[in-house]
Amino acid sequence: MIKSYNQLFENNKKWVEATNMQDPQFFNKLSNGQSPKFLWIGCSDSRVPANEITGTMPGDIFVHRNIANMVIHTDMSMLSVLDYSVNVLGVQHIIVCGHYGCGGVAAAMGRKQVGLIDNWLRNIKDVYRLHQNELNSIEDVDKRTDRLVELNVIEQVMDLAKTSIVQNAWSANKPLQLHGLVYALKTGILQDLNVTIDSTNDMEDVYRMEVPIIA
Ligand code: CO
Repeated sequence: MIKSYNQLFENNKKWVEATNMQDPQFFNKLSNGQSPKFLWIGCSDSRVPANEITGTMPGDIFVHRNIANMVIHTDMSMLSVLDYSVNVLGVQHIIVCGHYGCGGVAAAMGRKQVGLIDNWLRNIKDVYRLHQNELNSIEDVDKRTDRLVELNVIEQVMDLAKTSIVQNAWSANKPLQLHGLVYALKTGILQDLNVTIDSTNDMEDVYRMEVPIIA
């Protein structure tokens, strides 16, 4: 147990050495600040690390992860990350990345109580209900789960677009695109679901907020 923990520091030392060999200024540059172009909202699953699967480096992606990559409007942690990344860091792309084989999505399809997490997963059940005709028509359980993974990503992208943070950025003509991606654990392939949005044009009226009048 201690050994696997100590291994982290040994790995870190090796990583620092290797990184300094490649670019002696790397840590010096990064310590001066960050200007990532991407915000990543992904699943906490240990098998879906944002930097590794996109071949990016520290400094490239601002990251928020939770179980099943959810955008929940009362989640202060998510909202703070979103506000900071859009209004302070000025990210241009927000990526919601789901993954096939997501345990959270699979659990949400069942009826077994797991614990506190049931309340979090209920948001995915709402996605299921919205798309139940399509989902119920898929007989194979794995295929149905995969489709719910995709639909859940798409709904979270739309939930981002419903926030005042994103809508105000668009009103101010900031370049900001929202994307939905899905990652396949079995192949390592990252796929664009082609649901990119950069305006409220296709959104139901009830979600489109007026720009506040600043006194
Ligand atoms: Co997951």
